[in-house]
Amino acid sequence: MATPHIESAKEDIAKTVLMPGDPLRAKFIAETYLENYRCVNTVRNMLAYTGFYKGKEVTVFASGMGNPSMGIYSYELFKDYDVEEIIRIGSCGAFKKELNLYDILIVDNSYSTSYYLTELNGDTEKSLPGNEEINERLAEAATSLGYGYHSGNVYCTDVFYNYVNIDNLRDFFNCYATEMETFALFSNAREFNKKASTILTVSDNLITKEETTSEEREKSFNKMIEIALEAIR
Ligand code: HPA
Repeated sequence: MATPHIESAKEDIAKTVLMPGDPLRAKFIAETYLENYRCVNTVRNMLAYTGFYKGKEVTVFASGMGNPSMGIYSYELFKDYDVEEIIRIGSCGAFKKELNLYDILIVDNSYSTSYYLTELNGDTEKSLPGNEEINERLAEAATSLGYGYHSGNVYCTDVFYNYVNIDNLRDFFNCYATEMETFALFSNAREFNKKASTILTVSDNLITKEETTSEEREKSFNKMIEIALEAIR
């Protein structure tokens, strides 16, 4: 079986999927953390790998950037591959001074002005929650690994290079940070009655204008990846 964007056989995709944005990060995760892994998708170079972490089968599938790309892959994974849960592992720009670079954020709710959900099925909600049970598992995993984390809302934008002031949106929904994929993911999870959560690492702070170096970024990303892998069942 295949979809317009995924060439994998159904049995090549695990019931639990971790989704980084970057295809090369999917490759890095497989090579660094998984046993007996195999590459299961190369269509459009949207690399995916299925293997085992501490005996549990998991697929790491890149989402690409932005709601439309995440929307396509998570839709097909839930609908055509019977995936039960997806955990997005990504980066975000912090809206609050208190969030330091490399801090880890477990997403409570994704707020967006995107029409993704409305165009999907006519629903008009602008805020969708992450799965509470996965979020609890993520929090427990972080605690058992000794890694600190924050929990909070994020603003999901379609515009990385935005010139307008989005302070109002941030303050109204008390958003900690901004990223670009979670709203489509949570929309599809709700549409198919599946589970989805997002865990993020702060890669830049939009208030203090600090940015991460690539080496430091990799180290802190590894913490987030370990948390997500420990949280899978
Ligand atoms: N904006 C949107 N998405 C992001 C950012 C940002 O500043 N940083 C990381 N992902």
